Amino acid sequence: MKSSLGSLLGRLAIAGLSSVLLAGAVSAASIEDVLKQIDPATGKAKDTATAFTLSGIVSARATLADGRALAFVQPSGAAGVAVLAGAADAARFIPRNDVSFTGTLGEGPFGSAALVVKAGSVSVTATNKAFGAAEPRGADFFKDASSSAGRYVSLTNVVFAGPKFDGTGTAKVKGDAGEVTLLLTSTLKDRDVPAGALNVFGVPVKVDGGWRLLAARFLSVNNRTAQALATKHTCMTCHNPDIKAVGPSYRDVAARYKDDPEAVAKLTLQMEKGGGGKWGLVPMPPLGAKVPVEDRQQLAQWIIGYRWDALLAE
Ligand code: HEC
Repeated sequence: MKSSLGSLLGRLAIAGLSSVLLAGAVSAASIEDVLKQIDPATGKAKDTATAFTLSGIVSARATLADGRALAFVQPSGAAGVAVLAGAADAARFIPRNDVSFTGTLGEGPFGSAALVVKAGSVSVTATNKAFGAAEPRGADFFKDASSSAGRYVSLTNVVFAGPKFDGTGTAKVKGDAGEVTLLLTSTLKDRDVPAGALNVFGVPVKVDGGWRLLAARFLSVNNRTAQALATKHTCMTCHNPDIKAVGPSYRDVAARYKDDPEAVAKLTLQMEKGGGGKWGLVPMPPLGAKVPVEDRQQLAQWIIGYRWDALLAE
């Protein structure tokens, strides 16, 4: 009864008969409802007729070679659903955006089902939202990541295999326990890979029978040490890496300077001399007298490390 009503509403929505009826279907569809319509054994959709209207937070995305975006939309701390958006809507599926949209289940880019977004149905209700902690995983876990399919995980302590990204939309990283292939946006072509040991955050995806990680964020394994340094120097009373506070979020700062070769010098100068007018009316006080030059350098490197959030979302 419930599902036949759902598909009736879906058909009405497809026919464009009534946005009021569609709004009635909105509250009924949760990400869990959609996941129930995907066969766990085959990864294929059982129901390709119902138009689901969902909201949730984007955890990871990549722009495919054809301009469409493959994204994951999560409820907090639970499994998310793969979403395929056309080029016109792709820019709204930026990680940490809270989005609402309508879609029907269809074939995703790697053979398994994805929710294919109805063009123009996407609205962004908030940005810079958190979506629960990442489950830490080693490289060996990706031999069979099915227990974390659709969940937000972090692949810990890996290094990139090659010096630059190519245009294939994949890259290999190595850990103690083997190699993992990352899925990432093809626009990274020719960019230098991040240096040193990293934790890669993202969502496991099955591609041609093998598990890959759709990458959303790269952070140095020393991230917590740098954050402790920022706490010691009172930066964290005004800043948060992810959320705007008195000062801008560090991921927003890093996004603005993502292609600026002078970024580290500029951020170091801000810490030394303070300044205002770049992010709002409140100025930042000068901290040069309290924060030694080596610490300023280290903090600037750490902050600029968040630029991968923006680069991976291009
Ligand atoms: C009293 C609050 C406060 C403290 C403490 C503080 N900041 Fe800021 N910070 C701000 C504000 C406000 C801005 C925005 C200034 C503007 O609009 O130009 C800012 C901006 C920045 C920027 C962006 C600069 C740019 O060029 O865009 C960086 C980087 C930064 N802060 C890093 C730090 C670090 C690192 C520390 C600790 C050493 C720190 N801040 C401590 C309030 C603070």
